[in-house]
Amino acid sequence: MRNPKILVLDRGDALVQQVRGVTDGIRPRPEVASCTRVGSVGDVLTEEGPFDVLVAGPSLGTRAGLARLEVIHDELPAMSLLLAFNRRPEARLREIVRAGAIDLLQLPIDDEMLLESMQRAIELSRQQQVAAPASAAGAANSGIGRVFTTSSATGGCGKTFYATNLAYFLTHYTGKRTCIVDLDLQFGEVSTALRLRPRFTIFDALQRDEEDDSALADHIEEYMVRHDTGIYLLPAPKDPSEADRISPPDVTRIIEAIRTKFDYVIVDTPAALTEIVLAAFDLSDELFTLATLDLPSVRNMGVFLNTLDKLKIPSEHVQLILNKAEKDVGIDIEQITKLFPQGFMSVLPYAREVSKSINVGMPVMAFNPNAEVSRRIGAGLRSYLPEDVRERIPEVSTNSHNRFLGRLFRRSAVATNSNA
Ligand SMILES: Nc1ncnc2c1ncn2[C@@H]1O[C@H](COP(=O)(O)OP(=O)(O)O)[C@@H](O)[C@H]1O
Ligand SMILES: [Mg+2]
Repeated sequence: MRNPKILVLDRGDALVQQVRGVTDGIRPRPEVASCTRVGSVGDVLTEEGPFDVLVAGPSLGTRAGLARLEVIHDELPAMSLLLAFNRRPEARLREIVRAGAIDLLQLPIDDEMLLESMQRAIELSRQQQVAAPASAAGAANSGIGRVFTTSSATGGCGKTFYATNLAYFLTHYTGKRTCIVDLDLQFGEVSTALRLRPRFTIFDALQRDEEDDSALADHIEEYMVRHDTGIYLLPAPKDPSEADRISPPDVTRIIEAIRTKFDYVIVDTPAALTEIVLAAFDLSDELFTLATLDLPSVRNMGVFLNTLDKLKIPSEHVQLILNKAEKDVGIDIEQITKLFPQGFMSVLPYAREVSKSINVGMPVMAFNPNAEVSRRIGAGLRSYLPEDVRERIPEVSTNSHNRFLGRLFRRSAVATNSNA
């Protein structure tokens, strides 16, 4: 068992001294690192981590500090977070809970209590680390494919672009069977984006008059078209009038049938919260919600997320992606990320390679894997791969992701300092 690693984040050094003192007796003996500049915590976490425990000092007890801890907790859920404070923390309880703190340490604290708390934090982190890979493997082996859905409140954000790249990414790195279902029933464009000429569509598949759904599953592949990269596609209807005849239960049947035959089902949707789309959301393991870097799109993303919340779609399975990000468009990424404390899984640049790849019917990750946009998509999606293939994502992707993380942390640090 490796030695536990503890990071103490506080402006002064009294807390880290006390933590060092009490944990000295724990076996295996923990390594205790400290970070006094709150602005560099992102770098310390990525460069010196992984840490089992993060002890955040009183300077982090502000709202902005907690918002930053929440981002850290989302990125590193297995790390236990302890929050130390002098008087009552300035933030509300809800914010403390959201930040993911497992314990509150009222300072000054006696050694015995601190030790007990540290031991518990180390133990909890261990359990988390054991639990996480096991559940990921379970999903892949259950014989029920995982469903990933792209969505957005406004059109043209890049749902179809992202869906094709997500499908390519998964099939390329895992070699597993991956299918895109085009649920943009009226104006579906996945077949155009991949330059495919389908003979059949989702509508034709639903015309089969089956006595049971296992027969639908057995024949579903006959209605699909296969792309050169190995991705399968169940296309949208050829005619919008056919689209009108597809009901939400039809969508449920189709996705359920496909997931018995494919490891990954990627669902592309129109920019609307119709019953058809909600039927797909209900079956989705993960929802990728896109917005572009303009105020209407970002504002509508906020409305969209509120609606998902009311529909009781668990927010931890909703990943935000900011697409077509460019400099000097009047709003900057920092402003936007402040509005969404849950953070963005990826920020993707506007890239000419995307149009070029679409013109040849290829996902940009296949057409130009080294383009920044491709690397950023890969870095964001890395954690969806089984652990043994993750290393195959070029190291540079991880770095660019870390740089982005680093920026996020630094950005919040500025907010903390100005609040404190
Ligand atoms: N990061 C990007 N850089 C450049 N062009 C992009 C990018 N993302 C998407 N596009 C282009 O923007 C247009 C809209 O994207 P699309 O995926 O069709 O959006 P949606 O499906 O959300 O309506 C397409 O022409 C697509 O090629
Ligand atoms: Mg689309």
